[in-house]
Amino acid sequence: MYKFETKNKKPLYVQLYEQIKEDIINNYQLEEKLPSIRKVMTTYNISKNTVEAAYSQLVIEGYIESFPKKGYLVISNEFQNFKTKDLDTKPYKEEEIRYDFFPAKLHKDTFPLKLWKRIYSKALDETIELGMYSDKQGEYSLRVELAKYLNHSRAVNCSAEQIIMTNGFADSLSILAMLFNNKIKNFSIEKPGYHVARKVFLNHNYNIDDIPINKEGIDIEKLQNGFSSLLYVTPSHQYPTGVTMPIANRMKLLTWAENTNSYIIEDDYDTELSYFNKPIPSLQGLDLKERVIYFGTFSKALSPALRVGYLVLPKQLIEKYKQEFIYHACRVCLITQKTLELFMKEGFWEKHLRRVRTINKKKHNLMKNQLEEKLGSTIKIEAQGGGLAILINPKVELNWQKLEKLAQKEKIKLHYTKERTNNNWQALMMGFGSFKEEEIEKAVSAFSKIWFESIN
Ligand SMILES: Cc1ncc(COP(=O)(O)O)c(C=O)c1O
Repeated sequence: MYKFETKNKKPLYVQLYEQIKEDIINNYQLEEKLPSIRKVMTTYNISKNTVEAAYSQLVIEGYIESFPKKGYLVISNEFQNFKTKDLDTKPYKEEEIRYDFFPAKLHKDTFPLKLWKRIYSKALDETIELGMYSDKQGEYSLRVELAKYLNHSRAVNCSAEQIIMTNGFADSLSILAMLFNNKIKNFSIEKPGYHVARKVFLNHNYNIDDIPINKEGIDIEKLQNGFSSLLYVTPSHQYPTGVTMPIANRMKLLTWAENTNSYIIEDDYDTELSYFNKPIPSLQGLDLKERVIYFGTFSKALSPALRVGYLVLPKQLIEKYKQEFIYHACRVCLITQKTLELFMKEGFWEKHLRRVRTINKKKHNLMKNQLEEKLGSTIKIEAQGGGLAILINPKVELNWQKLEKLAQKEKIKLHYTKERTNNNWQALMMGFGSFKEEEIEKAVSAFSKIWFESIN
């Protein structure tokens, strides 16, 4: 007997259909006859429409068929595999952490949530077209705002037509790896350098040429003796050492690209968070020969969770992109793009940048003071003054393994450049962005305890 619940939100016909389906799978033989519609109506005191709707659903799904003079017969009952099993829904247990020095995280309060909600809803109310595919390169009007911002704040020489919105660094780089795939096989990267760049190009079967870093950024002489015609650099704030490339070397780099017909990928990932100097203008802005591809992201100053990045292609490459990426839909959600566009257009982005810089400059200084006060002469500061972390190394003999073990015991999460540079350079990344100001002292205190215990 089937049972029906009148309080159940499911329509009656769905309740009937589900029970008959279960019955067919478990109890019926092939070609066995189902009770007639009238019989079901009278047995359960339900309407003809309800029974017909249930049977019709079973016909559509291929369980039964109606045969003249025979009625409804089972034509398939081999659907056991589709029976729903109880899912193992153990609650996700988050690692318990007291202090996380993650170097690429902003505190939740840094995000302008109230404002974003308001603009998000305004963006939805305005002309947003959710019934169609959005612009493949990213919304044109957002690209116009971005081009204006890049021109005046980073001296990037570009128009909206040259910008492609992406969902972050790896997406931008994958596009390039695919764009050059038939022509270029070798890819140069800074050593130490950002491991994601290496990984993306390895995944696309490029040969990697590691070019060492010196006090002025990438070693140009070594580059000139290298073998590739595509180079990835972070000239404004070298990742991870923090070195800024002087103007003379920038010019040399551009000459190299021009003479060898090479392209330079400039990753300008965190210059918005420069606390003491006015960030030096982009390499792209100095380039008169269209050899620089410029990368940017909203991850550092707005939110890494929104997943919005972009690349600016030289004009000759944008034409190639348009021809070859005809299938490639934009990977940033249209509503996010429209919200960001309004955020920029109405002047909030500029204000937000000032606020984020002020907040994080304070945290930077607090972290630096605390490190100097609590760890004193046992550390050397390797990089400071920008981004979301201060990099340190021991000046004394430190047992790194012991430090790691103690950190785990004390639920302190530490982050090492080794893990992000293909093992090419070691320093501790003392991220401050994720802390509240008042937490920094306690965090460094807890860290200093395990630090001193790890000194040999
Ligand atoms: C060197 C470097 N480039 C770019 C990015 C930006 O990555 P995404 O835009 O994917 O968040 C980061 C983020 O940490 C980075 O460290």
